Amino acid sequence: MMSTDVNSLLELLTDRVSHSALGLPGPTPDQITDIVRAGMRAPDHGLLRPWHFVVIEGDRREQLGTVLQNSLRLRGVTDESQLAKALKAPQRAPTIIAVMLQFKNHPKVERNEQIGSAAAAAYAMSLASNALGFGSMWRTGVYATDPSVVAALGGGVQDEVIGFLYLGTREGPSKKLPVLDPAEFMTHF
Ligand SMILES: Cc1cc2nc3c(=O)[nH]c(=O)nc-3n(C[C@H](O)[C@H](O)[C@H](O)COP(=O)(O)O)c2cc1C
Repeated sequence: MMSTDVNSLLELLTDRVSHSALGLPGPTPDQITDIVRAGMRAPDHGLLRPWHFVVIEGDRREQLGTVLQNSLRLRGVTDESQLAKALKAPQRAPTIIAVMLQFKNHPKVERNEQIGSAAAAAYAMSLASNALGFGSMWRTGVYATDPSVVAALGGGVQDEVIGFLYLGTREGPSKKLPVLDPAEFMTHF
């Protein structure tokens, strides 16, 4: 690999920022497949493939909004502004990929390891989206573990959403990153 490739790969990692303002266009179907392919290379103890990816685009985002709003109602939320916010939440990006933990019972690979694999998948997918030129934002909220939301997305009783990846074209500039010193976050044993 050329050193410039190494540098741009490192930059992808070290300069990554989330973008909350995301507009059209979102990734094409082929690009979505590439993003999912990146997720599927997440480290995965036992090769259990403990994940599933649910793509929500276009009009289906309205349906997701209804699911999120219903989730709040089931929790007893009656505040109209909160309910309206939930309904509109999926409109914040043209494409959302729900990264679902599809839990597999296994004698050695515990739930936390499978969550780790799904989280790694979500992160890889964020980076793949960025590499393709799109902005991304990982969101969860109270919805991610709500059985009504998980079921609506096709998950089972042992599953949960590890992240809703909001993807689209960046609107506005990237935020400034705080400068952190690696030495403050590491020691040598
Ligand atoms: C598991 C997980 C869940 C998150 N859920 C939310 C969320 O629901 N809402 C939100 O505003 N940010 C959420 N974030 C944080 C954002 O994705 C983002 O990382 C944060 O705003 C910091 O920005 P940065 O990624 O540019 O450093 C979540 C991050 C992770 C890892």
